[in-house]
Amino acid sequence: MDEERLAIDGGEKSVPRLGPFPTKIGRQELLALIDLWEFSPQGRARVREIIKAEPEVQGPHLFRYYNPRPSAVAAAEKAMAELLGVRYCLGVNSCTSALMASYRALGIGAGDEVIVPAYTFFATASTVAASNAVPVIVEVDDSLTIDPEATQKAITARTKAMAVVHMRGAPAQMDAIMDLADRKGLPVVEDVAQSGGGSFGGKRLGSIGTMGCFSFDYYKIVVSGEGGFVATDDEFLYTRAQSWHDTAACWRPDRFASERREGELFCGENYRMGELAGAVAGVQISNTDEMLARYRRAKRRVKEAIEPRPGLSFRRITDDEGDTGICLVMFMPEADTAKRAITALQAEGVPAGGIYDSKVRDWHIYKYWEHILEKKTVAADGLPWSAIPENELPDYSENMCPRTLDLLARSVHVEIEQHYSDEDCEAIARGINKVLCVLLK
Ligand SMILES: Cc1ncc(COP(=O)(O)O)c(C=O)c1O
Repeated sequence: MDEERLAIDGGEKSVPRLGPFPTKIGRQELLALIDLWEFSPQGRARVREIIKAEPEVQGPHLFRYYNPRPSAVAAAEKAMAELLGVRYCLGVNSCTSALMASYRALGIGAGDEVIVPAYTFFATASTVAASNAVPVIVEVDDSLTIDPEATQKAITARTKAMAVVHMRGAPAQMDAIMDLADRKGLPVVEDVAQSGGGSFGGKRLGSIGTMGCFSFDYYKIVVSGEGGFVATDDEFLYTRAQSWHDTAACWRPDRFASERREGELFCGENYRMGELAGAVAGVQISNTDEMLARYRRAKRRVKEAIEPRPGLSFRRITDDEGDTGICLVMFMPEADTAKRAITALQAEGVPAGGIYDSKVRDWHIYKYWEHILEKKTVAADGLPWSAIPENELPDYSENMCPRTLDLLARSVHVEIEQHYSDEDCEAIARGINKVLCVLLK
């Protein structure tokens, strides 16, 4: 080959340009996405035609960082922060990830204890153990949320945080919990997975404690298929949660900057939220209050039409205004009556179910968390249990929280759907009155 003038010396470029190439994520992927919507075959065919008639446009960039377009995840984080009234929100891929990132951000690790309620989805407690700390399980009360008195009694010199769960749509006792937290100087992690959008004392759940953890999985109130958020007012905790959620702060704004403050850089995991989930979450967040208004209205209509009966009581709601309204929980005087009521209500067509049946396993009840009760461990180091002297570990047993089991066994849970019509609400209340009139005399 003859010698030519190099491009850096003003010669011709060897590669004048590359591409344009077909987009990485394009028509086919969009069509696959459209298929997720259960449109009619005709509707789907029309959408297909429209998409195919368009030129092969640039597809979306589904990675939140280094995105040439404004990130949908970043927009959802902003919307979530505004909804909650907090300074920082971090989009993650689940509430389990949000809990893990929060515990790690708080510096929780081997030799520490975190207080958790006996009634919550397993993730609240399993992430404590996965952080190498020991979950200390305490009773719930008739609000079906953690009992502040039992929480106080469970505090030891090793306690590093209290995890408070707003179960089944209703707020925990945040006044008593925050008072305790202030007196003891302990951080509070709010698990808002089941109560997104709810509030206590006029403040959104997840904005009251030190860190709030949200689930956006499909079965929650505000959803994106899978997803979650961490909320906090504390810039350093946000930075640490961001580091944990992103392998080790790989994608911070100033990507290779050295540590600005001790505790900012460490090895983490990858819990990043993708742009598809971010786009869906953004829409759902903007509709939160409309959704909640519908749930609350339907619940009010059902509850107000239930006739008082001897032996009938309702789950205590700590703040009526802040209840999301996604369910109505009634207590029967005995577990047997609850069982009979549930069967009879289901026969009437009422969407009722039980919360605890001693013969049915359920990940929401501590009794079935054998990984914790039997102190299971993933590696030869024996963590989290090996970091605390054996005789100082919690005395786990299936019957350690009898009040929780009793309350749950006596519960009748009625599902509230936001789109119930007035007739639906009246029919449900009629079914409840019909059954309770026979069972509670
Ligand atoms: C109280 C509670 N915490 C945490 C989680 C975990 O949420 P995710 O599925 O987003 O990890 C759930 C999910 O069911 C939950 O109900």
